[in-house]
Amino acid sequence: MAANPPVSHTGRVQGEQLVLRSDDVRIAEFVGDGWRVVARSWAAQLTAARIDADALSDIVRRGRRHGTLRELDGGDVEPVLALDSATLGDYPGGIATQHTPLTRSTAWATPARRGFGAFDEAGRAIAITFVDLDGQHAETDFTVVVRERRGLGLGTAVKAASVLTLRAEGVEVFRTGGSAENSAGLASNLALGYVVDEEWVTLSPS
Ligand SMILES: CC(C)(COP(=O)(O)OP(=O)(O)OC[C@H]1O[C@@H](n2cnc3c(N)ncnc32)[C@H](O)[C@@H]1OP(=O)(O)O)[C@@H](O)C(=O)NCCC(=O)NCCS
Repeated sequence: MAANPPVSHTGRVQGEQLVLRSDDVRIAEFVGDGWRVVARSWAAQLTAARIDADALSDIVRRGRRHGTLRELDGGDVEPVLALDSATLGDYPGGIATQHTPLTRSTAWATPARRGFGAFDEAGRAIAITFVDLDGQHAETDFTVVVRERRGLGLGTAVKAASVLTLRAEGVEVFRTGGSAENSAGLASNLALGYVVDEEWVTLSPS
């Protein structure tokens, strides 16, 4: 899932590496010059018209068996930072899908940066997703679940909650992305109705 909107999906060089769309003819030239493909990633879209609200509501309901699901507010900064710092090493895929550690400022949900989360009985954040809004466009920044609660549907559930809430507010286009190594992230987004429409490769000089 989320997965991230792949941050380097602009075809630019970052450090020693380069991220290009998988159909870019320059890839063969780079490989011919000795560069190696070190990671693959994807981006996907869900449009409001394609959303299956019943299916997403079911996903949210199932997620609620494992925690309290709700939109984040300023009071959630501490548990959000705690979950983020406990999971910083868990994002696969390299520069195209890297996660920037949250700060007190980016952990604070705002009207343009909405957050949705699940909490355990002790008030700890066990799953969070952040979505950046630009008019009627929403782009997932990242989604993460605490290690011991993965595979229970929580990652998909917080993301489903974000899509349902934002669709009700008039958001028309939802975008997300992630690493090809991250099977759970991809499966989660496909379950929500996202359609993969871009694939990227990360090249590194040998
Ligand atoms: C990606 C992540 C958020 C998924 O959250 P999760 O709560 O574990 O996922 P879910 O339980 O909602 O499962 C989502 C789908 O992935 C599948 N899945 C879960 N764990 C899996 C695994 N280890 N391998 C393969 N598929 C897996 C589930 O079966 C489900 O697919 P389905 O709907 O077809 O049944 C979580 O694994 C995570 O926090 N990873 C580290 C951070 C990260 O990489 N985030 C994504 C990029 S922003």
